[in-house]
Amino acid sequence: MKPINVGLCGVGTVGGGTITVLKRNAIEITRRAGRPIVITMAANRDLIRARELCGDDITLTSDAMDVVNNPEIDIVVELIGGTTIAKDLVLAAIANGKHVVTANKKLIAEHGNEIFTRATEKGVMVSFEAAVAGGIPIIKALREGLTANKIEWVAGIINGTSNFILTEMRDKGLAFNDVLKEAQRLGYAEADPTFDIEGHDAAHKLTIMSAIAFGIPVQFDKAYLEGISKLAAIDIQYAQELGYRIKLLGMTRRREQGIELRVAPTLIPARRLIANVDGVMNAILVKGDAVGATMYYGPGAGAEPTASSVIADLVDITRLHTADPEQRVPHLAFQPSQIADLPI
Ligand code: NDP
Ligand code: HSE
Repeated sequence: MKPINVGLCGVGTVGGGTITVLKRNAIEITRRAGRPIVITMAANRDLIRARELCGDDITLTSDAMDVVNNPEIDIVVELIGGTTIAKDLVLAAIANGKHVVTANKKLIAEHGNEIFTRATEKGVMVSFEAAVAGGIPIIKALREGLTANKIEWVAGIINGTSNFILTEMRDKGLAFNDVLKEAQRLGYAEADPTFDIEGHDAAHKLTIMSAIAFGIPVQFDKAYLEGISKLAAIDIQYAQELGYRIKLLGMTRRREQGIELRVAPTLIPARRLIANVDGVMNAILVKGDAVGATMYYGPGAGAEPTASSVIADLVDITRLHTADPEQRVPHLAFQPSQIADLPI
Protein backbone atom coordinates (compact mmCIF):
# COMPACT_ATOMS: atom_id res chain seq x y z
CA MET A 1 0.00 0.00 0.00
CA LYS A 2 1.41 3.37 -1.02
CA PRO A 3 1.59 5.58 2.10
CA ILE A 4 0.06 9.05 2.21
CA ASN A 5 2.86 11.54 2.92
CA VAL A 6 2.30 14.12 5.62
CA GLY A 7 4.34 17.28 6.17
CA LEU A 8 4.18 18.58 9.75
CA CYS A 9 4.68 22.29 10.43
CA GLY A 10 5.30 22.91 14.14
CA VAL A 11 6.72 20.21 16.41
CA GLY A 12 5.49 21.57 19.75
CA THR A 13 2.86 20.25 22.19
CA VAL A 14 0.31 19.12 19.57
CA GLY A 15 2.89 18.30 16.88
CA GLY A 16 4.76 16.09 19.36
CA GLY A 17 1.52 14.38 20.41
CA THR A 18 0.64 13.75 16.77
CA ILE A 19 4.00 12.06 16.08
CA THR A 20 3.66 9.90 19.22
CA VAL A 21 0.07 8.73 18.60
CA LEU A 22 0.63 8.11 14.86
CA LYS A 23 3.59 5.85 15.73
CA ARG A 24 1.97 4.10 18.70
CA ASN A 25 -1.32 3.31 16.91
CA ALA A 26 0.08 2.85 13.41
CA ILE A 27 -1.56 -0.54 12.86
CA GLU A 28 -5.08 0.61 13.81
CA ILE A 29 -4.73 3.92 11.98
CA THR A 30 -3.49 2.24 8.78
CA ARG A 31 -6.39 -0.22 8.87
CA ARG A 32 -8.94 2.57 9.31
CA ALA A 33 -7.38 4.90 6.71
CA GLY A 34 -6.86 2.14 4.14
CA ARG A 35 -3.16 2.97 3.78
CA PRO A 36 -0.27 4.06 6.02
CA ILE A 37 -0.16 7.71 7.09
CA VAL A 38 3.49 8.71 7.38
CA ILE A 39 5.08 11.99 8.46
CA THR A 40 8.00 12.25 6.07
CA MET A 41 8.99 15.88 6.67
CA ALA A 42 8.64 18.33 9.55
CA ALA A 43 9.46 21.98 10.20
CA ASN A 44 10.27 23.60 13.51
CA ARG A 45 12.17 26.67 14.66
CA ASP A 46 14.15 24.75 17.30
CA LEU A 47 15.64 21.83 15.35
CA ILE A 48 17.37 20.22 18.33
CA ARG A 49 14.15 19.72 20.32
CA ALA A 50 12.28 18.67 17.17
CA ARG A 51 14.93 16.06 16.33
CA GLU A 52 14.28 14.33 19.67
CA LEU A 53 10.56 14.02 18.86
CA CYS A 54 10.97 13.21 15.16
CA GLY A 55 13.71 10.60 15.39
CA ASP A 56 15.82 9.89 12.31
CA ASP A 57 13.06 8.91 9.86
CA ILE A 58 11.62 12.41 9.39
CA THR A 59 13.45 15.01 7.31
CA LEU A 60 13.69 18.21 9.36
CA THR A 61 13.83 21.83 8.24
CA SER A 62 13.56 25.17 9.99
CA ASP A 63 11.63 26.67 7.04
CA ALA A 64 7.99 25.54 6.97
CA MET A 65 7.74 26.59 3.29
CA ASP A 66 10.12 23.70 2.48
CA VAL A 67 7.33 21.36 3.61
CA VAL A 68 4.63 23.18 1.67
CA ASN A 69 6.73 23.25 -1.50
CA ASN A 70 7.78 19.60 -1.30
CA PRO A 71 6.03 17.83 -4.24
CA GLU A 72 6.11 14.51 -2.33
CA ILE A 73 3.83 15.82 0.46
CA ASP A 74 0.09 15.08 0.11
CA ILE A 75 -1.21 16.67 3.34
CA VAL A 76 0.22 19.63 5.25
CA VAL A 77 -0.50 19.70 8.99
CA GLU A 78 -0.24 23.24 10.40
CA LEU A 79 0.50 23.21 14.15
CA ILE A 80 2.48 26.44 14.50
CA GLY A 81 -0.39 28.70 15.59
CA GLY A 82 -1.07 32.40 15.03
CA THR A 83 -2.06 34.03 11.76
CA THR A 84 1.18 35.22 10.17
CA ILE A 85 3.36 32.33 8.99
CA ALA A 86 0.45 29.90 9.56
CA LYS A 87 -1.80 31.79 7.13
CA ASP A 88 0.92 32.10 4.49
CA LEU A 89 1.77 28.45 4.61
CA VAL A 90 -1.85 27.23 4.60
CA LEU A 91 -2.64 29.38 1.56
CA ALA A 92 0.57 28.23 -0.14
CA ALA A 93 -0.26 24.58 0.58
CA ILE A 94 -3.72 25.03 -0.94
CA ALA A 95 -2.22 26.79 -3.98
CA ASN A 96 0.10 23.79 -4.38
CA GLY A 97 -2.94 21.47 -4.40
CA LYS A 98 -2.29 19.96 -0.97
CA HIS A 99 -4.92 19.10 1.62
CA VAL A 100 -4.52 20.85 4.97
CA VAL A 101 -5.17 19.84 8.57
CA THR A 102 -4.91 22.52 11.24
CA ALA A 103 -5.61 22.91 14.97
CA ASN A 104 -5.47 26.68 14.59
CA LYS A 105 -8.79 28.18 15.70
CA LYS A 106 -7.54 31.76 15.42
CA LEU A 107 -6.63 31.17 11.78
CA ILE A 108 -9.95 29.52 10.90
CA ALA A 109 -12.09 31.99 12.88
CA GLU A 110 -10.37 35.08 11.45
CA HIS A 111 -9.41 33.96 7.94
CA GLY A 112 -11.60 30.91 7.30
CA ASN A 113 -13.73 32.61 4.62
CA GLU A 114 -10.69 33.28 2.43
CA ILE A 115 -9.11 29.90 3.18
CA PHE A 116 -12.26 27.88 2.36
CA THR A 117 -12.91 29.85 -0.83
CA ARG A 118 -9.36 29.11 -2.03
CA ALA A 119 -9.67 25.44 -1.00
CA THR A 120 -12.93 25.08 -2.93
CA GLU A 121 -11.34 26.62 -6.03
CA LYS A 122 -8.45 24.15 -5.83
CA GLY A 123 -10.60 21.13 -4.87
CA VAL A 124 -8.63 20.40 -1.71
CA MET A 125 -9.79 19.79 1.84
CA VAL A 126 -9.09 21.94 4.89
CA SER A 127 -9.95 20.11 8.12
CA PHE A 128 -9.87 21.55 11.61
CA GLU A 129 -11.45 19.11 14.12
CA ALA A 130 -8.66 19.85 16.64
CA ALA A 131 -9.35 23.58 16.50
CA VAL A 132 -12.47 23.27 18.67
CA ALA A 133 -12.53 21.57 22.07
CA GLY A 134 -9.31 19.55 21.71
CA GLY A 135 -10.17 15.85 21.74
CA ILE A 136 -13.98 16.16 21.48
CA PRO A 137 -15.13 15.35 17.91
CA ILE A 138 -17.57 18.24 17.92
CA ILE A 139 -17.01 19.35 14.32
CA LYS A 140 -17.94 15.87 13.12
CA ALA A 141 -20.95 15.82 15.45
CA LEU A 142 -22.23 19.17 14.18
CA ARG A 143 -21.54 18.45 10.54
CA GLU A 144 -22.47 14.78 10.34
CA GLY A 145 -24.22 13.41 13.43
CA LEU A 146 -26.65 16.34 13.68
CA THR A 147 -26.97 17.03 9.97
CA ALA A 148 -30.74 16.37 9.95
CA ASN A 149 -31.37 19.12 12.49
CA LYS A 150 -32.10 22.79 12.40
CA ILE A 151 -29.72 23.90 15.16
CA GLU A 152 -31.30 26.25 17.68
CA TRP A 153 -28.29 26.95 19.87
CA VAL A 154 -24.81 25.79 20.81
CA ALA A 155 -23.32 26.53 24.24
CA GLY A 156 -20.33 25.27 26.10
CA ILE A 157 -17.16 25.40 28.11
CA ILE A 158 -14.62 25.57 25.30
CA ASN A 159 -11.43 26.85 26.88
CA GLY A 160 -9.57 24.29 28.96
CA THR A 161 -7.12 26.77 30.48
CA SER A 162 -9.85 29.04 31.91
CA ASN A 163 -11.82 26.10 33.21
CA PHE A 164 -8.67 24.68 34.82
CA ILE A 165 -7.97 28.04 36.49
CA LEU A 166 -11.53 28.45 37.80
CA THR A 167 -11.58 24.87 39.11
CA GLU A 168 -8.23 25.06 40.89
CA MET A 169 -9.09 28.45 42.43
CA ARG A 170 -12.39 27.05 43.73
CA ASP A 171 -11.22 23.62 44.94
CA LYS A 172 -7.69 24.36 46.15
CA GLY A 173 -7.84 28.10 46.83
CA LEU A 174 -4.85 28.62 44.51
CA ALA A 175 -3.97 32.04 43.11
CA PHE A 176 -4.99 32.87 39.51
CA ASN A 177 -1.44 33.44 38.25
CA ASP A 178 -0.07 30.24 39.84
CA VAL A 179 -2.74 28.12 38.15
CA LEU A 180 -2.15 29.87 34.83
CA LYS A 181 1.56 29.01 35.08
CA GLU A 182 0.64 25.37 35.72
CA ALA A 183 -1.70 25.37 32.66
CA GLN A 184 1.22 26.68 30.59
CA ARG A 185 3.53 24.00 31.96
CA LEU A 186 0.98 21.31 31.06
CA GLY A 187 0.76 22.60 27.47
CA TYR A 188 -2.89 23.74 27.75
CA ALA A 189 -2.43 27.48 27.28
CA GLU A 190 -1.95 29.39 24.04
CA ALA A 191 1.49 30.84 23.22
CA ASP A 192 -0.03 34.14 24.40
CA PRO A 193 -2.24 33.09 27.35
CA THR A 194 -4.15 36.37 27.15
CA PHE A 195 -6.15 34.63 24.43
CA ASP A 196 -7.28 32.03 26.98
CA ILE A 197 -8.06 34.26 29.94
CA GLU A 198 -9.64 37.15 28.03
CA GLY A 199 -12.07 34.95 26.08
CA HIS A 200 -10.54 35.27 22.59
CA ASP A 201 -9.76 31.57 22.26
CA ALA A 202 -13.29 30.57 23.32
CA ALA A 203 -14.73 33.14 20.90
CA HIS A 204 -12.61 31.73 18.06
CA LYS A 205 -14.01 28.26 18.74
CA LEU A 206 -17.55 29.56 19.13
CA THR A 207 -17.27 31.42 15.81
CA ILE A 208 -16.28 28.20 14.05
CA MET A 209 -19.10 26.16 15.60
CA SER A 210 -21.58 28.93 14.79
CA ALA A 211 -20.53 28.94 11.12
CA ILE A 212 -21.13 25.20 10.87
CA ALA A 213 -24.30 25.11 12.95
CA PHE A 214 -26.03 27.96 11.12
CA GLY A 215 -24.39 27.75 7.67
CA ILE A 216 -22.95 31.26 7.86
CA PRO A 217 -19.46 32.66 7.20
CA VAL A 218 -17.04 32.91 10.11
CA GLN A 219 -17.60 36.31 11.76
CA PHE A 220 -15.25 36.54 14.72
CA ASP A 221 -15.34 40.33 14.64
CA LYS A 222 -19.04 40.22 15.60
CA ALA A 223 -18.52 38.18 18.77
CA TYR A 224 -19.05 39.73 22.21
CA LEU A 225 -16.29 38.53 24.51
CA GLU A 226 -15.37 38.87 28.13
CA GLY A 227 -12.77 36.73 29.92
CA ILE A 228 -12.07 35.57 33.47
CA SER A 229 -9.16 37.85 34.33
CA LYS A 230 -11.32 40.22 36.40
CA LEU A 231 -12.74 37.45 38.57
CA ALA A 232 -11.45 37.32 42.15
CA ALA A 233 -11.35 34.38 44.56
CA ILE A 234 -14.18 36.01 46.50
CA ASP A 235 -16.50 35.93 43.41
CA ILE A 236 -15.93 32.20 43.07
CA GLN A 237 -16.51 31.67 46.79
CA TYR A 238 -19.78 33.68 46.85
CA ALA A 239 -21.08 31.83 43.80
CA GLN A 240 -20.33 28.55 45.58
CA GLU A 241 -22.18 29.65 48.74
CA LEU A 242 -25.24 30.60 46.66
CA GLY A 243 -25.30 27.20 44.93
CA TYR A 244 -23.72 28.30 41.64
CA ARG A 245 -20.50 27.68 39.72
CA ILE A 246 -18.81 30.31 37.57
CA LYS A 247 -17.91 29.00 34.11
CA LEU A 248 -16.53 30.78 31.05
CA LEU A 249 -19.42 29.96 28.72
CA GLY A 250 -19.67 30.44 24.97
CA MET A 251 -23.14 30.66 23.47
CA THR A 252 -24.36 31.07 19.90
CA ARG A 253 -28.02 31.06 18.97
CA ARG A 254 -30.56 32.17 16.42
CA ARG A 255 -32.33 35.39 17.35
CA GLU A 256 -34.87 37.55 15.51
CA GLN A 257 -32.12 39.97 14.44
CA GLY A 258 -29.57 37.34 13.41
CA ILE A 259 -27.06 35.04 15.07
CA GLU A 260 -25.76 35.87 18.54
CA LEU A 261 -22.15 35.03 19.50
CA ARG A 262 -21.25 35.58 23.13
CA VAL A 263 -18.48 34.49 25.51
CA ALA A 264 -18.62 35.54 29.18
CA PRO A 265 -18.19 34.24 32.73
CA THR A 266 -21.60 32.84 33.66
CA LEU A 267 -23.28 31.71 36.87
CA ILE A 268 -24.64 28.18 36.45
CA PRO A 269 -26.67 26.33 39.11
CA ALA A 270 -24.40 23.69 40.68
CA ARG A 271 -26.98 20.94 40.03
CA ARG A 272 -26.55 21.28 36.23
CA LEU A 273 -24.35 18.73 34.48
CA ILE A 274 -22.31 21.43 32.75
CA ALA A 275 -21.57 23.18 36.06
CA ASN A 276 -19.65 20.04 37.07
CA VAL A 277 -17.33 20.01 34.07
CA ASP A 278 -14.03 20.73 35.79
CA GLY A 279 -10.33 21.15 35.11
CA VAL A 280 -9.17 21.00 31.51
CA MET A 281 -12.36 19.21 30.46
CA ASN A 282 -14.69 20.88 27.96
CA ALA A 283 -18.39 20.28 27.34
CA ILE A 284 -20.63 21.46 24.54
CA LEU A 285 -24.41 21.43 24.49
CA VAL A 286 -26.14 21.49 21.12
CA LYS A 287 -29.90 21.87 20.73
CA GLY A 288 -31.36 20.60 17.48
CA ASP A 289 -35.03 20.74 16.53
CA ALA A 290 -35.22 16.98 15.89
CA VAL A 291 -32.83 15.52 18.45
CA GLY A 292 -33.41 17.96 21.32
CA ALA A 293 -30.49 18.85 23.61
CA THR A 294 -27.28 16.82 23.31
CA MET A 295 -24.01 17.10 25.22
CA TYR A 296 -20.39 16.33 24.27
CA TYR A 297 -17.72 16.02 26.96
CA GLY A 298 -13.97 15.40 26.96
CA PRO A 299 -10.47 16.87 27.31
CA GLY A 300 -10.35 20.32 25.75
CA ALA A 301 -6.57 20.63 25.47
CA GLY A 302 -3.30 18.73 25.79
CA ALA A 303 -0.91 16.91 23.49
CA GLU A 304 -2.52 13.53 22.88
CA PRO A 305 -6.22 14.52 23.14
CA THR A 306 -5.62 17.17 20.49
CA ALA A 307 -3.52 14.77 18.41
CA SER A 308 -6.49 12.40 18.48
CA SER A 309 -8.51 15.00 16.53
CA VAL A 310 -5.63 15.91 14.18
CA ILE A 311 -5.24 12.24 13.26
CA ALA A 312 -9.00 11.76 12.80
CA ASP A 313 -8.80 14.48 10.12
CA LEU A 314 -5.75 12.78 8.55
CA VAL A 315 -7.65 9.48 8.34
CA ASP A 316 -10.72 11.17 6.81
CA ILE A 317 -8.64 12.97 4.20
CA THR A 318 -6.66 9.83 3.40
CA ARG A 319 -9.90 7.95 2.71
CA LEU A 320 -11.29 10.76 0.55
CA HIS A 321 -7.97 11.48 -1.19
CA THR A 322 -8.02 7.93 -2.48
CA ALA A 323 -11.60 8.38 -3.78
CA ASP A 324 -12.70 9.82 -7.14
CA PRO A 325 -12.15 13.64 -6.92
CA GLU A 326 -15.72 14.20 -8.18
CA GLN A 327 -17.04 12.29 -5.16
CA ARG A 328 -15.08 14.24 -2.55
CA VAL A 329 -17.05 16.16 0.04
CA PRO A 330 -15.06 19.29 0.85
CA HIS A 331 -14.50 19.75 4.59
CA LEU A 332 -15.78 23.26 4.59
CA ALA A 333 -17.72 25.16 7.17
CA PHE A 334 -20.09 26.68 4.64
CA GLN A 335 -20.67 27.02 0.94
CA PRO A 336 -19.19 30.23 -0.50
CA SER A 337 -22.56 31.11 -2.09
CA GLN A 338 -23.95 31.51 1.43
CA ILE A 339 -21.53 34.32 2.32
CA ALA A 340 -23.52 37.23 3.68
CA ASP A 341 -22.78 39.73 6.41
CA LEU A 342 -25.50 38.71 8.85
CA PRO A 343 -26.23 41.00 11.79
CA ILE A 344 -25.22 39.41 15.07
P1 NDP B 1 3.50 25.04 20.69
O1 NDP B 1 3.97 26.42 20.96
O2 NDP B 1 3.74 24.00 21.70
O3 NDP B 1 4.08 24.52 19.30
C1 NDP B 1 4.25 25.34 18.20
C2 NDP B 1 5.51 24.89 17.51
O4 NDP B 1 5.66 25.63 16.29
C3 NDP B 1 6.77 25.13 18.36
O5 NDP B 1 7.52 23.94 18.43
C4 NDP B 1 7.50 26.22 17.60
O6 NDP B 1 8.90 26.05 17.62
C5 NDP B 1 7.02 25.99 16.18
N1 NDP B 1 7.13 27.20 15.38
C6 NDP B 1 6.79 28.46 15.71
N2 NDP B 1 7.03 29.31 14.68
C7 NDP B 1 7.53 28.55 13.70
C8 NDP B 1 8.00 28.84 12.39
N3 NDP B 1 7.97 30.07 11.89
N4 NDP B 1 8.49 27.83 11.64
C9 NDP B 1 8.54 26.57 12.13
N5 NDP B 1 8.11 26.24 13.37
C10 NDP B 1 7.62 27.22 14.14
O7 NDP B 1 1.94 25.17 20.38
P2 NDP B 1 0.83 24.03 20.50
O8 NDP B 1 1.32 22.77 19.96
O9 NDP B 1 0.25 24.09 21.86
O10 NDP B 1 -0.30 24.65 19.53
C11 NDP B 1 -0.21 24.54 18.13
C12 NDP B 1 -1.57 24.91 17.54
O11 NDP B 1 -2.55 24.01 18.05
C13 NDP B 1 -2.04 26.31 17.89
O12 NDP B 1 -2.78 26.83 16.80
C14 NDP B 1 -2.99 26.08 19.08
O13 NDP B 1 -3.97 27.07 19.21
C15 NDP B 1 -3.60 24.76 18.66
N6 NDP B 1 -4.15 23.96 19.74
C16 NDP B 1 -3.42 23.68 20.85
C17 NDP B 1 -3.92 22.86 21.83
C18 NDP B 1 -3.15 22.51 23.05
O14 NDP B 1 -3.70 21.83 23.94
N7 NDP B 1 -1.89 22.93 23.18
C19 NDP B 1 -5.27 22.26 21.71
C20 NDP B 1 -5.95 22.60 20.48
C21 NDP B 1 -5.41 23.41 19.55
P3 NDP B 1 9.79 26.76 18.77
O15 NDP B 1 9.33 26.15 20.05
O16 NDP B 1 11.17 26.40 18.40
O17 NDP B 1 9.48 28.21 18.68
N1 HSE C 1 -5.53 27.01 24.92
C1 HSE C 1 -6.61 26.17 24.53
C2 HSE C 1 -7.43 25.82 25.75
C3 HSE C 1 -6.08 24.93 23.87
O1 HSE C 1 -6.96 26.01 26.86
O2 HSE C 1 -8.57 25.38 25.60
C4 HSE C 1 -7.17 24.08 23.27
O3 HSE C 1 -7.75 24.70 22.17
